[in-house]
Amino acid sequence: MSDTGREEWSSTPGFILASIGSAVGIGNIWRFPYIVGSNGGGAFLIPYLISVFLFGLPLMVLEFAIGRSTGNSVASAFQSLRQRFFTVGLAIVVIVCLILSYYLVITSWVLAYALFFALNRPVDFGAFTGSYLPLAFFLLSGLAVFVTVRSGVREGIEKVARYLIPALVAILLFLVAFSLTGPGALEGIRFYLLPDYSRLADPGVWTAAFGQAFFSLSVGMGVMLTYGSYLKRGDLFRSASIIAVADMVIAILAGLMIFPLVFTAGVDPAAGVNLAFVTLPSVFMEMQFGMVLGALFFLMLFAAALTSAVSMLEVPVATLMDSYGYQRRRATLLVFAAVMLLGLPSALSYTALRFEIFGAPFLDLADYTFGTIGLIAAGLILSVVGGWYMDRTRICAEIGGCGWQQRIYMVLIRYCVPVILVITLAANLFLAAL
Ligand code: TRP
Repeated sequence: MSDTGREEWSSTPGFILASIGSAVGIGNIWRFPYIVGSNGGGAFLIPYLISVFLFGLPLMVLEFAIGRSTGNSVASAFQSLRQRFFTVGLAIVVIVCLILSYYLVITSWVLAYALFFALNRPVDFGAFTGSYLPLAFFLLSGLAVFVTVRSGVREGIEKVARYLIPALVAILLFLVAFSLTGPGALEGIRFYLLPDYSRLADPGVWTAAFGQAFFSLSVGMGVMLTYGSYLKRGDLFRSASIIAVADMVIAILAGLMIFPLVFTAGVDPAAGVNLAFVTLPSVFMEMQFGMVLGALFFLMLFAAALTSAVSMLEVPVATLMDSYGYQRRRATLLVFAAVMLLGLPSALSYTALRFEIFGAPFLDLADYTFGTIGLIAAGLILSVVGGWYMDRTRICAEIGGCGWQQRIYMVLIRYCVPVILVITLAANLFLAAL
């Protein structure tokens, strides 16, 4: 702890690793590959690169800057900019809890699969989710996140990332090397990356890129703001660039392991939930050493999901501590209980109970409402509040002066990012109405 009494990262690399832990999640390893595959292959990398570096990265720097400059998490930080923004900040915290509640359900499936493969038990998605076993795993992964956050910024969040992120990278590199030696490697890479530039004329491809970039970088939700509030020194642009590049490299590598495997096995590279929980497991079960590979794959996915879920839980916990004077232990317990309850409908939506609304599983609905629409709306609020209501000189002080680079940065934050988010929001709502 510092003399202000606020917890702190042990070092800049510790902070960067924790942020990479937040950014690298299910979104990188499972969602990114199939979004690339179904949105123009290699050509998709163009709108994606633009989204990450022109919009995602500036927003991440802004979050770090607000957090560090106010020394507070999102609700209190907003309050210190304008009294009336406190409620707006709280609304963002609620959306984070809602995203976490279903994110944990997917995390728990991953944990279950890791265990099944390690125990050499074949898995069937329908049979697994049709039972009540997922509820036990839901509680178990919730507990893992709870214990980590309860242990604090340095001893919990940072320490877990320090062990899990290097392990994740090692497993990923091993799996990529393995899958590239299969006979289907070339065909898989062709499916994954062969650019179809004509798709760039489709606005849907662009909004898919924006949505994926914001989700993957964990920006727009006050997560990075909260992590920034535990930071004292360091170049924010440099840290954010390292985080963004690491996030992107891991996402691209994930595709390089998945598609060669799928094509070597000669199965349908279908998208969505099926890819991770039906297609890949069936591929692993057919392969030599498939059980070990499957266990490694799902362990890696669990490491990624855990460090992301931890970052989401830290947002409401920090809010209770900063705005309501709770101790970390009590705050964590309270939020843990609330998130478990909130997650029940999602957890039950794939079980025998089939909790559905309008014929769609509740989890899919939650992903759309909170994880897509809610996320974009929160990002919009964050960029407007930070860009327009935080003093320019205060932002400049955080990002190293007020030169021409910072002026370009301000234009991006004040005009480009909000405009892009409004367009993405409108496009998503419009697509839903169709
Ligand atoms: N970035 C994570 C992923 O790729 C998910 C995530 C963690 C997230 N924290 C977030 C998404 C905050 C939105 C907001 O899976």
